Amino acid sequence: EKGTYPHYMLKEIDEQPAVMRKIIQNYQNDSGELQIDQDILSAMNDSDRIYIIAAGTSYHAGLVGKQFLERMAQIPVEVHISSEFGYNMPLLSKKPLFIFISQSGETADSRQVLVQIKEMGHKSLTITNVQGSTLSREADYTLLLHAGPEIAVASTKAYTAQLAVLAILAEVTAKSRDIEVPFSLVQELGIVANAMEVLRDSKEEFEAIAREYLSVTRNCFFIGRGIDFYVGLEGALKLKEISYIQAEGFAGGELKHGTIALIEEGTPVIALATQKFVNLSIRGNVKEVVARGANPCIISMDGLNTDEDRFVIPEVHELLTPLISVVPMQLISYYAALHRDCDVDKPRNLAKSVTVE
Ligand code: F6R
Repeated sequence: EKGTYPHYMLKEIDEQPAVMRKIIQNYQNDSGELQIDQDILSAMNDSDRIYIIAAGTSYHAGLVGKQFLERMAQIPVEVHISSEFGYNMPLLSKKPLFIFISQSGETADSRQVLVQIKEMGHKSLTITNVQGSTLSREADYTLLLHAGPEIAVASTKAYTAQLAVLAILAEVTAKSRDIEVPFSLVQELGIVANAMEVLRDSKEEFEAIAREYLSVTRNCFFIGRGIDFYVGLEGALKLKEISYIQAEGFAGGELKHGTIALIEEGTPVIALATQKFVNLSIRGNVKEVVARGANPCIISMDGLNTDEDRFVIPEVHELLTPLISVVPMQLISYYAALHRDCDVDKPRNLAKSVTVE
């Protein structure tokens, strides 16, 4: 039930800190350490390459998950859109492990890949919010998101839950391989939950940003570098699906290779700056679009911020920033849709689970 909330989407955005805490709890053992079934760890360690298969927002979570798994557990990872995988199958490694990421566990495009790779004799793990869902039943192993039912068509808390579970999988796998993880994930996810609360209490600011930048615009661009690029892709998907504003996410460095031609007087450009090693370069990209008339909205992380920034998110571990930087994307999209009189929870032409090819 949505209780006093006007929309499920807003309720689900607000639930994110609680979901983080619930995930930590569910994946902790009695001595407070993060834990994953031994079968799953063996499958991870037996494989020489992981193939993440997903669609939409879950695909965007996969892109970030690849960074977690490669940087923490040092296993190579490829991320694929499920609808393309069947006829564009890459040359597989000798010992592949397939990870399906699906909130609903019912996405037909992903299921088709599961059927296909099972026939080939490969192992599979489903990361899903729905126990007993098709993808969970048919895969060898399951990890649950513990996010509670997600009702709004636009996925919010499932995305951050997917990231948290992928980070836990990466950390526990790393430890099982004697690879040192130089931070405590339990502690860092706790910091993420607290930071999410700060953003939850800053709604007026995101409503103001949506009003100022998105009330009348035809389009909007999201730019970022490194892991911020992936969050920009998710920001653009959120905005287009509920506000119907044409939105695209770009890697900052790609702008000059074509996209910058789209910038006109007043075009909103939302730039993410949460990564120290690309902070100067992304700010350089903002200058380039501003010189062509863009209306920039820089969202940075505390410690990397400058006077020109529109919003500064609290500091979290640099690998975990997507868990936090996506929240402004969700809230800005929510308010943009509201201001434009769109049906936030049930956008036109979309269904919550896509059970047809
Ligand atoms: C976007 C959204 C969709 C889903 C996609 C995959 O907000 O909800 O892009 O992420 O249809 O759905 P699942 O995760 O259920 O497989």
